[in-house]
This record gives sequence, structure tokens and C-alpha cells, in this order.
Amino acid sequence: MHSILIIGCGSIGERHLRCFQKTGRCEVSACDANATLLHEVGARYSVPTFPDLKSALAAKHWDALVICTPAHTHLAIARESAAHGAALFIEKPLAVAFDEVEETRAALAASGRFNAVAYVYHCFPWVAQVRTFLQEGSLGKPLHASVVAGQHFPTFRPAYRQIYYTRHETGGGAIQDALTHIVNAMEWLIGPVTRVFCDASHQQLEGVTVEDTVNVSARHGDVLVSYAMTQFQAPNENTLQIHCEKGSIKIESHARRWGTLQHGEADWTWHTTPPLERDDHFIAQANAFIDGMEGKATPLSTFDEAVQTLRFNIAALRSVSTGLPISIP
Ligand SMILES: NC(=O)c1ccc[n+]([C@@H]2O[C@H](COP(=O)([O-])OP(=O)(O)OC[C@H]3O[C@@H](n4cnc5c(N)ncnc54)[C@H](O)[C@@H]3O)[C@@H](O)[C@H]2O)c1
Repeated sequence: MHSILIIGCGSIGERHLRCFQKTGRCEVSACDANATLLHEVGARYSVPTFPDLKSALAAKHWDALVICTPAHTHLAIARESAAHGAALFIEKPLAVAFDEVEETRAALAASGRFNAVAYVYHCFPWVAQVRTFLQEGSLGKPLHASVVAGQHFPTFRPAYRQIYYTRHETGGGAIQDALTHIVNAMEWLIGPVTRVFCDASHQQLEGVTVEDTVNVSARHGDVLVSYAMTQFQAPNENTLQIHCEKGSIKIESHARRWGTLQHGEADWTWHTTPPLERDDHFIAQANAFIDGMEGKATPLSTFDEAVQTLRFNIAALRSVSTGLPISIP
């Protein structure tokens, strides 16, 4: 049994705690700076608790640490954890700035332990299946893609006014919080973003001023891509289309399906995954992380892939503030 410490037991930390427990492959403990929350979570899942990282690291050797605090704290905690000699799973986005990236990369390399970043779309069956299909190359090269995505954020995260979401400095706003998932997934499918022209604005969400709506015209190398996202819309839907030389691919995440339509065909051919609970993706992700700890291959986002998506996040915010397209070398 691997010993795993969840650092930060808020919304996603509690989900990771529960889903790592459900793998049956580890013993989970919890750490959170909020004493009341920590007490509740510890009691709910019958796990040992620690009020801060220092006391947790002093108490025993951990096989892995899962960092579920707000984004601006991820890299400092990652370096402390790497020095402890534990494997590391870091929530998205990796960070909010580049300052600490190189220092952290060196600390992770020195520790020699497995690490990954929790961009959970890598564990959506329909995304992983499209990646394999694209690698097989039967439709030729991707030439254009479009993403239309969004949800009613207040319904899914009623506490949005009280958390990191309210400020860019702590990882907030639609670009760093929500769009980053989809851009990371598209980078996994068709390669890294190389140019970003982004328009974004606060259109509706009450009680915050960060952008809740984003339009991006991007290039992923030779592929032209458009992204449109809102966090106030009624439908909870994500549709991605990738148009290749010989036909198109469509992912409808909300319908758990992907399809192909080749030139000359009249209808889509769909591949549908049976109904899943939201936790199922996170249990699959926890299992993939434990596989990685055990030296097996995993589909998880690497640190370098997450650094590349951080380049996108920062370029997109800069494009909004300058009104200019930004190249990512
Ligand atoms: N993958 C996903 O689907 C997903 C979903 C939600 C959030 N996230 C990401 O997870 C991270 C956390 O988000 P959240 O919604 O759970 O936030 P949250 O505010 O609900 O929880 C964060 C918790 O971290 C604790 N904390 C902060 N600093 C700490 C420290 N130094 N030591 C110990 N505990 C500390 C806080 O007390 C709080 O309980 C963010 O980076 C966010 O972008 C990912």
C-alpha cells in the first residue's frame, strides 16, 4: 500500500482523497490549513490529518503527495515535497507565472520520483481514444480545429466568489481555471500552441471581475484553432472539432462520445462511452498516477506539457491586456 498525502482538502482535494481511497491501492491522509475543514474531512473519510505540510513531512515518509492548493502555491509546495523524496501529483494550472518553473524542474529531477499534473481530460476515454486515432493518421494531418465550451459556473461551483477564482494572481478567471483544461487537451491531441490572439471579458458572473468569457484565435503549429468559452451559459457542453485532410473528428464531451465523418460520407460514425459518474474520471486518474509511481506507462500530463499550457495561459492573459497576438516560441 502506498502512503499518499492530500495537501489542500477543499473542493478538488476532497475529491482526490475519496478517489485515491477508492483505488484500494493506497492509504490516504489529509492536510489543510483550515482546521474546521480538515476536522470535517478527516472524520468523513476516517483518515489521519495534519494541520500543515511541515508537520506532515516530519511525521513520516510519504510515497506520494497530491497538491490541491490554489495555483500560486503549487511550485513552492512541489519543491518542498520533492526534497522529501515523494512522488508528486500537482493540480492544474501548474502555476500562475514562470518564476519558479526552472527551480522546480531541477528539484523534481533531483528527487528522481514520478510526477505528473492533474489535467483530468487525459483520463476522459473519448479524448484518449481520439489521441490514439489521430496518431494512427488515417484522416491525414489536422488543418483546423474549433472548440465551443462552457457551463453555468455558479451552478457547479457556488463558492466561486470566496475562492482562488476571484483573482488572476491566485489562478482565477476563465482562462487559467477552465479554458486551460481544454487547451491542454487540444495540445495533447494536435501539438503545442505557438500563437495566441485572445479577447476576454467579464460578461455576467456576479461578485467577481475576472473574465468569464473568452474567444481565442490560436495556432498550434500549422493548425488554426478557435476557442469560444463562457462560464455563464446554461448548457454544460464541450464540443471539439478537428478537421483533417481526409475528414473530420468531433468530440462531444457532454455526450461522452466522439465521431468521424470522412469526405464523401453523409453521417457521423459515433463511438460512445457508457454513462460515468464524475468521480469515475478521478478514480481512473488516481489509478494512472499510482501506475506511474509503480513505473508503468500513464496517459497523464507531464510537467513539461503543463509548462507548455502555462505558456498558453500567460500569453492569453497578455494578449487580452495588450490587444495583440502573442507568439509562443
Ligand atoms: N481538475 C479539476 O477538475 C479541478 C477542479 C477544481 C479545482 N482544481 C484546481 O485545484 C486547485 C484547488 O482548487 P479547489 O477548488 O479545491 O480550491 P479550494 O479553495 O476549494 O481548496 C483549496 C484548499 O487548500 C487549502 N490550502 C491553501 N494553502 C494551503 C497550504 N499551504 N497548506 C495546506 N492547505 C492549504 C485551503 O485551506 C483550502 O481548503 C486549484 O489549482 C484549482 O485550479 C482542479
